[in-house]
Amino acid sequence: MKRLKKIVALTGAGISAESGITTFRDSGGLWEQYDVMEVASIDGWRKNPQLVLRFYNDRRKHLDEVEPNAAHRILAELEKDFDVTVVTQNVDNLHERAGSSRIIHLHGELTKARSSVNPGMIVDIGYRPIEWGEKAADDSQLRPHIVWFGEAVPMIEMAADAVSLADIAIIIGTSLNVYPAAGLVGYAPRDASIYLIDPNDVSYSGHNITVIREKATVGMEKIKQLLYE
Ligand code: OAD
Repeated sequence: MKRLKKIVALTGAGISAESGITTFRDSGGLWEQYDVMEVASIDGWRKNPQLVLRFYNDRRKHLDEVEPNAAHRILAELEKDFDVTVVTQNVDNLHERAGSSRIIHLHGELTKARSSVNPGMIVDIGYRPIEWGEKAADDSQLRPHIVWFGEAVPMIEMAADAVSLADIAIIIGTSLNVYPAAGLVGYAPRDASIYLIDPNDVSYSGHNITVIREKATVGMEKIKQLLYE
C-alpha cells in the first residue's frame, strides 16, 4: 500500500478569525484589550485568579457561539488522502468540531479545567464557567487547562516529533511571536514543502517556503488545489 504523505498544520489564532474569534496581536486584538501578563501568565493567576477565571470564562462562553470555518474543514477533509496532524496554539475546539482527528494542543484547551497543583488532574467542563471556590478532586482551586506564560509547554516534544516527519508543513494564521511554538517549523526535514498562509506579513525565513498571502479560508482552498494537482 502506498504511504500517505504526512501533512503537519501549525495553526494559530488567525485560522479561527473568520469564525469570529479575536486574534491576539492584530489591531483590535485581545492583547490590546487586556494586559497579557495579568490574564495569561502564572504570575497573573497568583496575583488575581478571579480576573483570570473571568477572562477564560468569557472566551469559553464565546466559543459556544461560533462555528468552525472552511479552513478548519478543509484540514479535516485532507485526512481522506493524507496523514494529517494539526499542531495548534489555539485553545478553541474548532479543529475538533470540524472533524480533525489528530490534534496537538500546545497551549491547552478552553473546554477543560484542571487542578491548580496537579497538572495531570484534568476534567472536561464543556462551555460552562469555572467558579472561584470550585475545587478539583485534590481540593485545590480548579483552574483553566491553559499553558500560561511562565509555564512549560508539555506537548512541545510530541509536536516537534510530528514536524520532523512531515512531507508538507502548512503554517496558518500565527504571528510566530511565541516560543517554543514558533520554533517548531525549524524541525521540518530539509526537503519538506512548507506553506505559510496569512493575510499579513509574517517574518519567517526558512527553507522551501511558499507564502500564500490570503485569509485562512481562501489560502486553504488554494492549498487543496495545489495538493491535488
Ligand atoms: P497572533 O494574534 O499573534 O497572530 C495572529 C496571526 O493571524 C497574525 O499573523 C495575523 O496576520 C493572522 N491573521 C489574522 N486574520 C487572519 C485570517 N483571517 N486568516 C489567516 N490569518 C489571519 O496569534 P498567535 O500567533 O496564535 O498564547 O499567538 C500565539 C500565542 O500568543 C497564543 O496561543 C496565545 C497568545 O498569547 C497564550 O495565551 C499562552
